[in-house]
Amino acid sequence: MNAPTRTDLARGTGVDVDRIRADFPILARPTSAGKRLVFLDTAASAQKPRQVIEAEARVYETEYANIHRGVYELSQKATAAYDKARSKVRALLNAASDREIVFVRNGTEAINLVAASWGRKNLKEGDQVILSEMEHHANIVPWQMLRDAIGIELVVIPITDTGELAWEAYEQAFTARTRLVAMTHVSNALGTIVPIREVTRVAHEHGVPVLVDGCQAVPHMPVDVQEIDADFYVFSGHKIYGPTGVGALYARESILKDMPPYQGGGDMIASVTFARTTYADIPQRFEAGTPNIAGTIALGAAIDYVTGLDRQALLRHELALRDYATERLSEINAVRIYGTAPEKAGVISFTIEGVHPHDVGTILDFEGIAVRAGHHCTQPVMDRFGIPATTRASFGIYNDFDDVDDLIRGIARVQEIFA
Ligand code: ALA
Repeated sequence: MNAPTRTDLARGTGVDVDRIRADFPILARPTSAGKRLVFLDTAASAQKPRQVIEAEARVYETEYANIHRGVYELSQKATAAYDKARSKVRALLNAASDREIVFVRNGTEAINLVAASWGRKNLKEGDQVILSEMEHHANIVPWQMLRDAIGIELVVIPITDTGELAWEAYEQAFTARTRLVAMTHVSNALGTIVPIREVTRVAHEHGVPVLVDGCQAVPHMPVDVQEIDADFYVFSGHKIYGPTGVGALYARESILKDMPPYQGGGDMIASVTFARTTYADIPQRFEAGTPNIAGTIALGAAIDYVTGLDRQALLRHELALRDYATERLSEINAVRIYGTAPEKAGVISFTIEGVHPHDVGTILDFEGIAVRAGHHCTQPVMDRFGIPATTRASFGIYNDFDDVDDLIRGIARVQEIFA
């Protein structure tokens, strides 16, 4: 192990960022303008370590075949590796059983699955689903589609000026018609960490199950679905340093086993005749068709990678970056930060007075700094604060204090150009 050299250790977070960065080939490539890449858009999608890239290539080179279908060696190897990835997700989330883990394309598909399968079976006209104002579109639109199809009602809990869930409004939102709470664990636009254990506690007191959108939580902090007492928990693989096109739905076994299939096709059946089809047991019942086999196995490699590091130290590190960036940004008069909850992840949304966030993003890009500019798939959050968009810097395990310093220099450049 190389001795840590960057400023981080000096600043006491205890994470050897040099060593982590060396695992991410893309970070060593200068931008086309010849700048050092400062990647601050991990909330949109994380970069991939060599271990994940190589794991996916290795599948195709050494053990690729379709799964659950072949009696030959390659197919059996691929099946075993795919099933092992399921166990890795189960362990990552501390689910009670592999049967509770369904592979899907991403968090969005997981929520659509719950809405289409559990929702259509268990909800009827007039039933209420509680959401928060800070949900990603992925946790709004599937419920709106269900509302339009069967007449459920959406009850939206407002957020405060700091971007926190309005707690009293949440506690008071339950009625005899409340059937589900669907809520984010960490806001992708504001960084707010929602007190999700309290959210489930209150919902369960009313006998209401909870779906948690964990897309921004799982990559950055240890998550225990049993401790949280979530009924459904979803995440995307690409945000936890894994490949795109694979994610997971956790659902409590007692709930999942009573859910009808979401999509029909191969691998989700027990038997088919033209008269009648019977379905496979969970979780296969929800995995119709050939899945992203290599990507799923590589997601397992991403989980090995992340859990092989000290996750508590990584979280401390990302929070130290958040604090440092917040401090430096707050020194700039023209900057306003949106999302100032005390419990907040490494996500900083901001505006610069007089400059459109897209222009900020474009000028930062010239400087080699990749941030997201826009509504972040959370238009209701933008409406709440009366703005069309923000610029968002979000941190991953490979970011360091130099990245923050470069962001601050980039903002000075933006201000110079717009002076
Ligand atoms: N949901 C992703 C983001 O926050 C794409 O940018």
